[in-house]
Amino acid sequence: MTYSLHKKRIWVAGHNGMVGSALVRKLTKCGHEVLTVGRDTLDLTNQSQVNDWIAQNKPEAVFLSAAKVGGIYANSTYPATFLYDNIQIAANIIHAAYQQKIEKLMFLGSSCIYPKESSQPMREEYLLTGALEPTNEWYAIAKIAGIKLCEAYRKQHGADFISVMPTNLYGPGDNYHLENSHVPAAFIRRFHEAKEANKSSVAIWGTGTPLREFMYVDDLADACIFTMENYSDHSFLNIGTGKEISILDFANLVAKTVGYKGEITIDTTRPDGTMRKLMDSSKLKALGWCPSYTLEEGLKMTYDDILVNGGKNFLENVGAKKMQVKNA
Ligand SMILES: NC(=O)c1ccc[n+]([C@@H]2O[C@H](COP(=O)([O-])OP(=O)(O)OC[C@H]3O[C@@H](n4cnc5c(N)ncnc54)[C@H](OP(=O)(O)O)[C@@H]3O)[C@@H](O)[C@H]2O)c1
Repeated sequence: MTYSLHKKRIWVAGHNGMVGSALVRKLTKCGHEVLTVGRDTLDLTNQSQVNDWIAQNKPEAVFLSAAKVGGIYANSTYPATFLYDNIQIAANIIHAAYQQKIEKLMFLGSSCIYPKESSQPMREEYLLTGALEPTNEWYAIAKIAGIKLCEAYRKQHGADFISVMPTNLYGPGDNYHLENSHVPAAFIRRFHEAKEANKSSVAIWGTGTPLREFMYVDDLADACIFTMENYSDHSFLNIGTGKEISILDFANLVAKTVGYKGEITIDTTRPDGTMRKLMDSSKLKALGWCPSYTLEEGLKMTYDDILVNGGKNFLENVGAKKMQVKNA
């Protein structure tokens, strides 16, 4: 172990988000002391507020999982916000962490940092070897800046700052917004609503053949904590399951999870998107980490959580509880 989180004051920046809340759950379960602060008290795009909060609260380790996150529509409508907010959040926290001698920091990126036409599976060294996907380049460039900041502060100042790139995630705390959701959340919502409306069929976009990788967010939290304690180097690490599934098979699995019994059809007039998107996570695997949950288990836990606690921009708490009684 290169670094122990035992008895450290650990700040999870972005604790209200899907990833941040999974990190808080896991760290708390392990008995760690976790510091959190809401956006109403601390705006992470403000350097002096970040400096003051760190000076007052003295975290020793930081998980940087705060970010302005959104889908293609949000990225293309608000490019300046995505670029500015994400660069500021990363730069403010990383710079303050260096100045105030925080022992260890982890920056969370995303697989969109890789070139649009990247070879598959995507290895860490493929970063900056080609043009980015234009629809989310604002976000990707800010994330690449975050990775490079960690590298630069390590190189120039010897700071123990690392970065990880998670694959596509799903789980409790996900965003089910119609325009902003990722594939797992979008499918869960569509199949749940189709079940409630007794729809005879649901069409998915494209041929259903593109291959994707999905990870349950609690597995990601576990991988982040493992990496924080067992890894210290300038190169970032991919975090994925190494398992691929076709979009059609994934749709069938989600339908089964939510209890939708109608037909699933393909709409080949719609685009497929990239045919294969898989992370090469062999470096992380070689360190000794592997995921705990299968896709079936993770989807079941996600849907059970929605029925009990509701889903962001989807089912309200009260409605969800009524639904649970109805389904019982
Ligand atoms: N979700 C995925 O599939 C996925 C996949 C790969 C990587 N990641 C990475 O994981 C990280 C977290 O993602 P997520 O899905 O957990 O996103 P999320 O649910 O949108 O959470 C982001 C958090 O950041 C906070 N935040 C944003 N701007 C802030 C500001 N100016 N001041 C204070 N807090 C601010 C948000 O606060 P509010 O709650 O107040 O808005 C929210 O709690 C991101 O870096 C993302 O790229 C996510």
